[in-house]
Amino acid sequence: MNIAVVTGGAGFIGSALVRTLLAQGAPRVAVIDNLSSGKEANLAEVRGSVDLYAVDIRDYARLAPLLKGAPVVYHLAAIPSVPRSISEPAPSHEANIDGTFNVLRACVEGRAGRVIYAASSSAYGDTEALPKSETMAPRPKSPYALQKLTGEYYCAVFTSCYGLETVSLRFFNVFGPRQDPSSPYSGVLSIFMKRLLERRPPVIFGDGEQSRDFTYVEDVAELCLKAARAPGATVSGHVYNAGNGCRYTLNETWRLLCRMEGVEIQPEYGPPRPGDVRHSQADTAAAVRDLGHAPRFSFEEGLRRTLEWYRSTL
Ligand SMILES: NC(=O)c1ccc[n+]([C@@H]2O[C@H](COP(=O)([O-])OP(=O)(O)OC[C@H]3O[C@@H](n4cnc5c(N)ncnc54)[C@H](O)[C@@H]3O)[C@@H](O)[C@H]2O)c1
Repeated sequence: MNIAVVTGGAGFIGSALVRTLLAQGAPRVAVIDNLSSGKEANLAEVRGSVDLYAVDIRDYARLAPLLKGAPVVYHLAAIPSVPRSISEPAPSHEANIDGTFNVLRACVEGRAGRVIYAASSSAYGDTEALPKSETMAPRPKSPYALQKLTGEYYCAVFTSCYGLETVSLRFFNVFGPRQDPSSPYSGVLSIFMKRLLERRPPVIFGDGEQSRDFTYVEDVAELCLKAARAPGATVSGHVYNAGNGCRYTLNETWRLLCRMEGVEIQPEYGPPRPGDVRHSQADTAAAVRDLGHAPRFSFEEGLRRTLEWYRSTL
């Protein structure tokens, strides 16, 4: 494969990354996705420039030939949910740890160029200080957080032991068009958007004062490309925060959305969910310095764009 590969490229963030790669001049992109939560429809506008392989990353025999010689492998395929990793830990473990190991092993054996790994801010857990910086000790609170952290460690070890170039980007609550709001495991903003447009209250788990560093999906996609281009001697084997650097509570976020829509709807509250982190905010200094991270979308601008997308599709 002499073109960039995106595992999980039919998913929410992966499909945005595919569109960004093509917009920035890639002639074609290969996508590896078992379509468990991803959809071919997410790639509709660019389908003619995408080679889609419906392959499971747990299936090494089918995966390995697809990664052979790839200049860059963006590894996003995962089961990306804290609550699901608690209720069904085995499938998450297999996709997120065994699958990641397979991707790295196939990249070494197939002499792929560089792996950009979708890590997660959940690895931090509840740290005492904010913002969270890469030098802090991780404190995973859920199987999902631990699985994503294990993937980072595997990346770093594959760099030091086998010379494979890897960069781990810890995504912080990514939001934007195409995030699937249909399951209880969905990202909170996709559920907020759906409820707002249906004029129904959302259920907030806990008191709503938990806060998140919401990052617009196009800024994350852009950073993935920057991580692929950054000098290997500086970035390879390292972990970077891929957040926006801001922080909003869920209560603030719901109020902001209601204001934008000109409605007043009181949220409902449910019990706090196990594994939920209380506060999350990225220190982005290292990503700015080494990768040239420069988020373009304010939270409000990202919300406006996302809301318009849901309005036109739901
Ligand atoms: N959305 C966020 O806020 C966030 C935050 C931190 C990290 N991440 C990470 O970013 C990545 C993308 O997440 P997303 O939000 O776009 O979720 P998503 O569910 O939309 O995308 C995941 C994709 O991986 C595919 N997939 C799952 N298991 C697979 C397997 N065994 N083999 C092949 N493909 C498989 C799914 O079909 C889907 O297309 C994940 O690695 C996730 O852990 C996301």
